[in-house]
Amino acid sequence: MAALLKVADVSVWFGGLAAVQNLSFELFPNECLGLIGSNGAGKSTLVDVICGARSPNKGFLEFDGLPLPEEGPRGRAIRGISRTFQGLRLFYDLTVRENILVRAEALGATDSKRLVSGILERLNLEDASNRFVRDLPLSRQKIVALGQAIVTSPRLTVLDEPLASLDASGVARVQDIIRRQLDETGHSIILIDHNVTAVAAVATRLLFMHAGKLILCGPTREVLQSKEVAELYFGKMTATAS
Ligand SMILES: Nc1ncnc2c1ncn2[C@@H]1O[C@H](COP(=O)(O)OP(=O)(O)OP(=O)(O)O)[C@@H](O)[C@H]1O
Ligand SMILES: [Mg+2]
Repeated sequence: MAALLKVADVSVWFGGLAAVQNLSFELFPNECLGLIGSNGAGKSTLVDVICGARSPNKGFLEFDGLPLPEEGPRGRAIRGISRTFQGLRLFYDLTVRENILVRAEALGATDSKRLVSGILERLNLEDASNRFVRDLPLSRQKIVALGQAIVTSPRLTVLDEPLASLDASGVARVQDIIRRQLDETGHSIILIDHNVTAVAAVATRLLFMHAGKLILCGPTREVLQSKEVAELYFGKMTATAS
């Protein structure tokens, strides 16, 4: 199967710090890839590169078989690459409906009102549609951010820590939305979170980053049970033969 996204030999430096180093991977259509790694591993920097918020110092990207030109996040979003942010970046003084509408209109959707109504229904946000986002609990603000990301039916959605600070029911709700997106739209998702168990429950493959480098990328179970993840992520010493 041809890759939807190809990331090839990408590096990002901040001064002398290599936040992402020579990183390559492919993402396939209708795949949920979990991106895991400790704080500072380079996950959000990689997301910025994929979503056009940052140009890599080295390497290139392809989407749907074509090289991705240098363009900002709006260009990438129009192309079908969407995201949520670790720090939600919502319009807190606008209503739920307005937050999602602004996003649809910014991307030039012609039938934006209909799209927004569909998303409000899909995400069970209808009862809150006219409430200011600032008045909602974090769990629902996170769903609004998801609504913004998927309103124009992107082919790839990158979710940067959508589960952080959620209780078990909030996590289950977001997992359910991710599963529905995969089943019903055929689109692809990159899911980043420190709740590795919850990521593993929806991702078919995991990409494990550490200190800017790709350490392992493979089937979820294999990566989770690897010595590398045990030692570098969970900080467990594995027994060595003497
Ligand atoms: N704008 C920036 N300027 C300088 N250094 C940065 C910048 N953004 C990130 N970094 C550094 O790059 C490294 C990777 O950061 P990044 O935010 O990508 O990690 P992360 O894996 O997303 O971490 P977390 O799990 O905490 O969100 C870190 O050492 C961070 O301090
Ligand atoms: Mg991050």
